[in-house]
Amino acid sequence: TDLAHIRNFSIVAHIDHGKSTLADRLIQETKTVADRDMKAQMLDSMDIERERGITIKAQTVRLEYEADDGQNYILNLIDTPGHVDFAYEVSRSMRAVEGSLLVVDSTQGVEAQTLANVYQAIDADHEIVPVLNKIDLPAADCDRVAEQIEDVIGIDASGAIQVSAKTGIGIHEVLEAIVAHLPAPRGTLDAPLKAMLVDSWYDPYLGVVVLVRIMDGKLRKGDRIRMMQTGAVYPVDRVGVFRPGMIPVDELTPGEIGFITASIKQVRDTKVGDTITTEKKGCETPLPGFKPSVPVVFCGLFPVDSNEFEDLRDAIEKLALNDASFSHEMETSAALGFGFRCGFLGLLHLEVIRDRLEREYDIDLITTAPSVVYHIHMKDGETRELHNPADMPDPSHVESIDEPRIKATILVPDEFLGDVLKLCQDRRGIQLDLTYAGSRAMVVYDLPLNEVVFDFYDRLKSVTKGYASFDYQLTGYRADNLVKMQILVNDEPVDALSTMVHRDRAEMRGRAMVEKLKDLIPRHMFKIPIQAAIGGKVIARETLSALRKDVTAKCYGGDATRKKKLLEKQKAGKKKMRQFGKVDIPQEAFISALKLD
Ligand code: GTP
Repeated sequence: TDLAHIRNFSIVAHIDHGKSTLADRLIQETKTVADRDMKAQMLDSMDIERERGITIKAQTVRLEYEADDGQNYILNLIDTPGHVDFAYEVSRSMRAVEGSLLVVDSTQGVEAQTLANVYQAIDADHEIVPVLNKIDLPAADCDRVAEQIEDVIGIDASGAIQVSAKTGIGIHEVLEAIVAHLPAPRGTLDAPLKAMLVDSWYDPYLGVVVLVRIMDGKLRKGDRIRMMQTGAVYPVDRVGVFRPGMIPVDELTPGEIGFITASIKQVRDTKVGDTITTEKKGCETPLPGFKPSVPVVFCGLFPVDSNEFEDLRDAIEKLALNDASFSHEMETSAALGFGFRCGFLGLLHLEVIRDRLEREYDIDLITTAPSVVYHIHMKDGETRELHNPADMPDPSHVESIDEPRIKATILVPDEFLGDVLKLCQDRRGIQLDLTYAGSRAMVVYDLPLNEVVFDFYDRLKSVTKGYASFDYQLTGYRADNLVKMQILVNDEPVDALSTMVHRDRAEMRGRAMVEKLKDLIPRHMFKIPIQAAIGGKVIARETLSALRKDVTAKCYGGDATRKKKLLEKQKAGKKKMRQFGKVDIPQEAFISALKLD
């Protein structure tokens, strides 16, 4: 297709501001899908995404549009993931297109994720068309939100298009603005093939499907292609575009976005951001800025029932087929038996995978405390990556420990600002910036990732009654005074409860953990000491007193329902417990013990 008649764009929006609804409306308005086949949220295909209302994998659709100028255009929409954990995928998809629609809910205003993603779009040199959505609602305030876009983001919002993705108002104007304001892509047809690997996923029928953006040259069925980062060569089996179903085409030319399949066995063999060229006479320099996405949060996943280990292995391998950023290796824990140490891009990613294992594969899991990756500098000069606090080397051999830091951006209504600052301060944060836009404050903090992984987001939501929005990006590693804290239950260390903590906060954290555990571990027939220790030194201790024979004995008098409840609670608890020495520890203890509130 001729370049002047192509427009490639993505939609940037905060969760729930209407990205998917707008995409559906564009698909409908351009008659890409017949009305009778339209189902809500065409682009969010996975059930779990639909349920949680988040878009995880980038998806794409090609729209054909006859504009008011009488010409036919091809509009390629790349749907980008909306969550912080997938920042790298967002940044790659942004590099594959020339413009973005910035969708802001006109009843809400700019949120932290809008900011993070719009900065990515600006970084990628996008032309940006602001779209104010939900104007059908009485609370819509387009002037205020347009002003906020100008103040906070610093782009001109005077031409913002007012739409209701729900009722269809303004959709035609959006399509016209895409044609009029977004630049056409550039590229050379008679050059060696240069294409960006934007995304890839596993399809049970087709194998690995690769989403590509052609920069130069052309891509045809039968071509032998080479991935420049991995060096792998494959013959192309299929070439096509998404409408939004997969439609074969003869070739893809510069500026176009489409897919290929090439009997690639695993998603792992494809690297998002890689450059695809032909095996022979290929292009010389790859596209700039490639970096593989690496897991930053690790935790152990163990089956509650050790007989389910094989099922867990199968399930994890299946999930890994479709998710190259999820890593796993077998782990044995003295206490938990066989399981896997798994790496994730962030907490949401962890939650999604854990949910899928439990729901789609029906496996009860024990999830150990999430930990970030530390860099351990040994006295002998070696540097090790620590994925599991249980593997922390003997401190006498350690020179220093670096931990990952993040830059966190929080947007919050004024009245909650004090609580947010306190929360960040309590988590060893360093304030970088504080600005106001209307009645909202934007706070930027430098924080250790390890203080954020457990429950920061939950705490933030609760101190701000849900009004804060939060986003972060990794900034690098820095040394700090970190130590490994062990938990001993009945004098036995429970490796799955080991954590890395800052030395100055160890006592406080240790005390909080043993107090929590005292509530979480049911009483046994004997006394159970619960201790927190650094090295050999106990820094906090609680004792769980022994149980009398009859649990219900403490309910004096005859409150029968209370007794029944207690017994039921005990029974239910039994199912999800693991034995440590002589002590049963319930599953929720592993996560709950770490939450600070
Ligand atoms: P993620 O996929 O989670 O990123 O969310 P999203 O930004 O795609 O939002 P989505 O399109 O799912 O819309 C969120 C909610 O807002 C849904 O309940 C929509 O029905 C509703 N919504 C979207 N557009 C409009 C609109 O123009 N007016 C009204 N009243 N509701 C809308």
